[in-house]
Order: sequence, then structure tokens, then C-alpha cells
Amino acid sequence: MTILGIETSCDETAVAVLKVKNGKFNLLSNIVSSQVKIHAKYGGIVPEVAARMQMEMIIPVIKEALVGAGFKPARTGHRPVPTNNIDYIAVTQGPGLVTSLVIGVETAKTLSYILNKPLIPVNHLVAHLLVNCINNKIKYPAVGLIVSGGHTMLVLMKNPSRGKYEIIGETQDDAVGEAFDKVAKILNLGYPGGPIISKLAINGDKNKFKLPRPMIQQQNFNFSFSGLKTAVLYLTQDKKFKKTKQNINDLCASFQQACIDVLVSKTLRAIKKYKPKSFLLGGGVAANSELRKQLKEKINTKFPEVRIFIPELKFTGDNAAMIAVAGYFQATKNTKTLKHKNRLDLKADPNLNL
Ligand code: KG4
Ligand code: ZN
Repeated sequence: MTILGIETSCDETAVAVLKVKNGKFNLLSNIVSSQVKIHAKYGGIVPEVAARMQMEMIIPVIKEALVGAGFKPARTGHRPVPTNNIDYIAVTQGPGLVTSLVIGVETAKTLSYILNKPLIPVNHLVAHLLVNCINNKIKYPAVGLIVSGGHTMLVLMKNPSRGKYEIIGETQDDAVGEAFDKVAKILNLGYPGGPIISKLAINGDKNKFKLPRPMIQQQNFNFSFSGLKTAVLYLTQDKKFKKTKQNINDLCASFQQACIDVLVSKTLRAIKKYKPKSFLLGGGVAANSELRKQLKEKINTKFPEVRIFIPELKFTGDNAAMIAVAGYFQATKNTKTLKHKNRLDLKADPNLNL
């Protein structure tokens, strides 16, 4: 079975071709066109700009993914790349920026109609976790931690092939990636904040500044990062705070460790309560090497029986391989696969639930 995955939920235009044979995943191509340099000029994502770039990039990226997967382009002019070996088209339905999502959804609908192939609507958040299934046999139930620019969530995955997910906790305000981005803005470090802060944190002292660990003591699985960001803001506004290179590094390390402490603590609490067989990490912040390291160490020490799955770096940020993988599970279990009549009714849903 070959699946064409399309992801346009935010500022990445991504297309992948995934072939699955006898349960073995073979990722034939995985193209990501990022707009990050364009949005960096504005210090964050500008939705209108993102939508326009999605529009410009979607066809070239589809073509690049098909050619990369070995589908030979026609020699003359602008004739399309043959796509008769594609069995399904999977697309991100939501959540995300609606103006970006519609580009992927409408393109996928058109392809599905022209090629007469079933269309699979995929939840972006579920896909961030399911990307861990590429050549890994995951045992369920599993606890999943989604850490991205828009979401911070603990999910109980009872049986994903039947679409069973339960949100057991989530952020009450900012997402953790958003907090990294906002703290970077406060410190004038650039956008996106996550990669910059984690790099500076390497040369910083994580114990230098005392920052809060919001909600860490609460007996639930929820998060809050907005107060932590404000604590950083107040600290930098204090007359005693000198903006030296070392202080910035120390502040980055202290802020990063405060985020990690909360994420690790709530994850351990969830594992203790739900006794899963596996733990899955997903989302852009999963690229953070300290978070990866400390989650692994702490889970291994306290719950050695739990298998830990952390995505390769190329699968942490938004990509379409994860959409194709999630699409595969839906296609094989025949859940939410749209054929013929109803596929043209599919609508992008910026607030799509799990
Ligand atoms: O999953 P993603 O690519 O997009 C969303 O679905 O939101 O996540 C993007 C977020 C951004 O906030 C970015 O700053 C953060 O992931 N991020 C990181 C790192 N790399 C990216 N956060 C912390 N440490 C990193 N190394
Ligand atoms: Zn994402």
C-alpha cells in the first residue's frame, strides 16, 4: 500500500510518499519546505504570509516528493508526474491555522477526485505521536506526550488503530514551544526560540536563576507555561539583572530546566497512574536534546518496564511522513477513510479534537 501524505497546518509545506508492505514501512520520500526564515523577520508566524507561501509551494513540493519517490516525470512541458501507484491520499485536517490547512485539504480533495483514490483526514496531533511507529512495534496502552508550538498534552492511547485516544492533561494557557518562542523574544534572540534557547543553554548554569515550576505540585496532568514566561520577563526587567552573555546563557538553561522539570514530573505521574507498556514523545519541542535525555533517564530509572519511543530529529517538527503513517493506520482499519461522494465535503478544522 502506498500513501501520499500532505501536511500544511502551519508554516511548513510537507509531502511524503510512504510504502507499507507486510507491516514494513518504507519512506520513499519526505519533503519539507519551511518558511521559518520568512517568519523570523516578523518574530513569529504571520498567518496571511503562511497561507500565501503554502499556496506557492504545495504543487512544487508534491512534485518533488513524487519524483523523489521514483515516479518519473514526463519529459515534455508541464505534464504531471504519473501517480497511478498511489493507493491513498492522507491530509492534515487540523488542528492548525485554518488559512494554511485549507491549502492542503483542498489540494488533497482535488487529487483524490482526479485520481479516484480514497482520502484520509488526519489529526495533526495524533500524527506527531504515531510517527514513532515507523519500523517500531509499539505495545499498547501507551502514554503520549505532545510538545509543540501550539499544544502541550498528555494522551492515553488505548488502541490507536481503533482511533481510541484520551486527553488526560493539557496546558491551561501557553504551549511549551510557545513559551520557548516568547522567552526568546523577551531576550531578543530571534525566532523560533526553541532551537536558539537550547543551544545557548548548553553553556549555561541551569541552577543560576530560581524560576517557578507551575502546577508541578498539583495532582493532575495539566500544565501552565505562561507564568514561567512572565517570571523570565520580570527577572530581565529587574535593575540588578545584567544582560551579559553568560547571564543570558544561564537564564536559557534555567528556563529550559524549569520546562523540563514540569514535563518530566507530569509524565512520570501519568505513567504511574495508567501503567502503560510504552511511552511516546512527539512534536517540535521533542527536538530538545535535554528533554529527550532527561525523559529517557527518569522513565528508565522509575519504570524500567516501559518502552520509550522518541522520534528521530527529522520527524519531530512538522512533516508529512507522520501524516502518511497515521493515514496508514486509518486505511488498514478502515476508520475515517472518505470515498467517492463524501470526500468533497471534507473541511479543514482549525480546532479538530483528538
Ligand atoms: O510541532 P512543531 O514543528 O509545530 C507545531 O505544530 O506547533 O513545533 C514547533 C515548536 C516551536 O515553538 C519551536 O520553538 C519548538 O517547536 N522547538 C523547540 C526546539 N526545536 C523546535 N523547542 C525546544 N527545543 C528545541 N530544540
Ligand atoms: Zn506540529
